[in-house]
Amino acid sequence: MAGIYIHIPFCKRKCFYCDFHKSTHFTQKNEIISGICTEILLRKSYLSEEPVETIYFGGGTPSILPIQDIKTILSLINKTFRISPDAEITLEANPDDLNPDYCTALIQAGINRLSIGIQSFNDKDLKLMNRRHCAQDAIDSVKNAQKAGFNNISIDLIYGLPEMKLSDWLLNLDQAFALNIQHLSAYHLTYHENTVFHQYLKKGKIKAVPEDDSFAQFNLLIEQATLHKFIHYEISNFALPGYFSRHNSSYWQNKKYLGVGPSAHSFDGHSRQWNSSDNNAYLEALNKNLPFYEREELSLNDRYNDYIITTLRTIWGSSLSYIHQEFGEAYLKHAESVVDRFKDSGHLIVENEMITLSREGLFVSDDLMTEFMIV
Ligand SMILES: C[S@@+](CC[C@H](N)C(=O)[O-])C[C@H]1O[C@@H](n2cnc3c(N)ncnc32)[C@H](O)[C@@H]1O
Ligand code: SF4
Repeated sequence: MAGIYIHIPFCKRKCFYCDFHKSTHFTQKNEIISGICTEILLRKSYLSEEPVETIYFGGGTPSILPIQDIKTILSLINKTFRISPDAEITLEANPDDLNPDYCTALIQAGINRLSIGIQSFNDKDLKLMNRRHCAQDAIDSVKNAQKAGFNNISIDLIYGLPEMKLSDWLLNLDQAFALNIQHLSAYHLTYHENTVFHQYLKKGKIKAVPEDDSFAQFNLLIEQATLHKFIHYEISNFALPGYFSRHNSSYWQNKKYLGVGPSAHSFDGHSRQWNSSDNNAYLEALNKNLPFYEREELSLNDRYNDYIITTLRTIWGSSLSYIHQEFGEAYLKHAESVVDRFKDSGHLIVENEMITLSREGLFVSDDLMTEFMIV
């Protein structure tokens, strides 16, 4: 079983927190779409005929694409790979692109899941982040998608924003759950270098929220999600039963995936590839038949570290017996020594040879994963 990711590297406007690869110059849009099609054909053997269970249009902003571009890419993927009849086909969308006609056209093109980047239902926060929509657009986008027939909708929200109070976050969550969505991705704000927010932070124009407030917001998120019968299946991801993101889950379950488009990553079970994240360099290399990606063969150590990073963040956790069987005695001893060191901290839970993180552990998961990893 495998997945395909398509990176659409364009946004109408850059949000002040975001460091994903994107350009605001659309002049190259057609060239990039044909580049993506060329890459799909070039890499038709990458998944060695495995059935493709998930297709994911990510970005950037895939919803800036005219429907015909989405149809062109999907029909080529269908002709080139073995797509499962019940494949999950997701498109990341910005709320102000989701008008009723576009939603209907997406369904007709075969998209069956939407991930809508709402970020906040608070106009002041949306403005602070330099988003191009307002709170009412966000609500309308979900309703338009539902009226068009989408019944698998995820929304993205960001918490831990500067000056965010617990009561502000509760209003956001209330609004989210009132919309009858099936899936919620809620991310704590990260200050990435080379973003406007990072500069603001350095200049003292905005202040990071105190850690206690962050933890209170994380707790509220889990409590509200639980109240609405959502399962907390990964640090930042919550879903009603039956609606876990199959695409993202496959990353965490070590399945193969092919990533096409500038900056996209791929994994074939034993090596990783990552495409150039410069649109010009990507196109030039493709057109001249030169390598357009870098490649790294994974060592045993890399595979162990990847296993920890991808599994410890989920409700399924990391398996001590799998570590023993797949990586050997030395890796098992290392993992057990970390468990011993942290067993009284309340951060780890070990049951039936499975290590999972408690709520406190999930909050400091980056630090815990670093402890488990071998550099
Ligand atoms: C590829 S991005 C964007 C999808 C879509 N273009 C949009 O903005 O609506 C996926 C999600 O990552 C989250 N994200 C991006 N940068 C972040 C940051 N610095 N801190 C927290 N969340 C972030 C946002 O919630 C965003 O919707
Ligand atoms: S959050 Fe989405 S719309 Fe905003 S810059 Fe990043 S990819 Fe583009």
